[in-house]
Amino acid sequence: MVQPSLAIRPPSPPPMSATSAMRERRAVREYTDEPVDEAGIRRLIDAAILAPSAMNRQDWMFVVVTDPVALDSISHKAKVHMLDLLEHTPTLNGFREHLTNPRYNIFYGAPALVVICATSEGQMAEQDCCLAAENLMLAAREEDLGSCWIGFAEAWLQTPGAKAELGLPEHARAVAPIILGHPRAWPASPGRRAPDVRWIRR
Ligand SMILES: Cc1cc2nc3c(=O)[nH]c(=O)nc-3n(C[C@H](O)[C@H](O)[C@H](O)COP(=O)(O)O)c2cc1C
Repeated sequence: MVQPSLAIRPPSPPPMSATSAMRERRAVREYTDEPVDEAGIRRLIDAAILAPSAMNRQDWMFVVVTDPVALDSISHKAKVHMLDLLEHTPTLNGFREHLTNPRYNIFYGAPALVVICATSEGQMAEQDCCLAAENLMLAAREEDLGSCWIGFAEAWLQTPGAKAELGLPEHARAVAPIILGHPRAWPASPGRRAPDVRWIRR
């Protein structure tokens, strides 16, 4: 009997269709310790910038953080900042329990964070960044990487201190902080409500 050669790799699976990636992407909140390699992050950014942008202006930039010390420090500062905001914004009160829990890391221990930032105050730059963010998360799913948009980070990221720390120009605005990593498991979908659709028919 012929032994299969170890040098022969099984054929790689066919690429995931865009709709499969949409169906199978999940907000992932538990990651393994395995880092995400820089070439992989570059591929995801290359996919992100395929998004359409108003007048093709592409007014976006990407800050990539993979230093675990920096990630912990940002999580801590973002929590303190949110708690401060919470004092004046009663609608945020539901988050108090998470934010006061010292074990709660807003990035769930993910090994990488990509912050997509609008680089102009032009009207559409933030929408452009949201489209880039969805591309990035779908491309991550295709590469079997988990992702999650972390809205908790957003308020702190607008502060002058955060901009200085991340090397962001004063006029830049962080729109989409997205964590990336290898999921411990793919969570089940939380489901969707049926869409409210109004048809104006002829
Ligand atoms: C703008 C935005 C902000 C979000 N902020 C957070 C966050 O701070 N923390 C978190 O755990 N998940 C956050 N999420 C993830 C959502 O909770 C998640 O996408 C939603 O529950 C649907 O689950 P699914 O992505 O698995 O379909 C955010 C998602 C979006 C789009």
